[in-house]
Amino acid sequence: MEFEHHISESAFLVNESRARNVELSRDRYAHLWVTDSTRRLWRDFSREVYALDAVELALRNRFFLEHLEKQIRRTPDTVFVNLGAGFTSYPFLVATPCRCIEIDYEHVCLFKGKRIIEWQKEGVLPKRKVEFIPADFRDRSDQKRVRHKLAGALSGKPSMATLEGITYYLERATLCRLFEILSDVQTPGSTIALDFWTPDVVTNPVHIRFTEFFAKKFGHARSDYNLFDVDFLRSVDGYEVISVLGIQELEKMYSGTNYLADIDQILPEHYAVLERTG
Ligand SMILES: C[S@@+](CC[C@H](N)C(=O)[O-])C[C@H]1O[C@@H](n2cnc3c(N)ncnc32)[C@H](O)[C@@H]1O
Repeated sequence: MEFEHHISESAFLVNESRARNVELSRDRYAHLWVTDSTRRLWRDFSREVYALDAVELALRNRFFLEHLEKQIRRTPDTVFVNLGAGFTSYPFLVATPCRCIEIDYEHVCLFKGKRIIEWQKEGVLPKRKVEFIPADFRDRSDQKRVRHKLAGALSGKPSMATLEGITYYLERATLCRLFEILSDVQTPGSTIALDFWTPDVVTNPVHIRFTEFFAKKFGHARSDYNLFDVDFLRSVDGYEVISVLGIQELEKMYSGTNYLADIDQILPEHYAVLERTG
């Protein structure tokens, strides 16, 4: 019930896209989160917004997964911090396990934690530990608690933080606060990987339909999107932008197909990696 008509319900939707393209997404557990009602929602989304989400979301998952695996190979004691983790499966997908901390609304953490325990008992999911920090990123006292917990967990350790499928839903001030918290707790060489939408996306036909669909289904106001370009990321204190890619470049990198060639048929998402300087 807490998910209905709430932005966190969109965390189920993306799993259907990942599950439809496992070879590309490498998310062999995404299907676990997909119910009949998610499938119906996905069909509406596919018809009313765009048909290529299964390609884009698979590439997105692949980008974050490969970046995490690369970081674990480089520094095996990496702590993975997933902000707005939703129903992603990275702790169970990485070739070498690492300490994993997921932060999301309380109802998402409780629901996910319960399901993970059930599926681990049934042998459906590997017995890997996931730590949860329930929080509303907009709430000041939650921000303080997140900072305190991360300071303890990351103390002296390399880390990778992700903000996947969330930067555009957060107010600018909230996102800036999250960057401040991460810069306080991450060690030099640690990274933040994120996806983002640039301001010119507002004229993109898929984006226009996307905002209409999200207003109708999840009550997310059409004006409430946080759009920025790479200069904003370059201005984040304590970090250097070390990589920026577009979704079409991810397609070249990971699949070599050409489904995403027409910009008017896709959601033109961007992906960046920031490294903590020091
Ligand atoms: C579109 S989903 C993406 C989930 C996941 N990262 C993925 O890519 O599948 C956005 C996620 O951000 C979480 N979220 C949005 N606003 C939040 C807030 N203010 N505080 C905590 N979590 C939030 C939602 O609950 C949801 O899980």
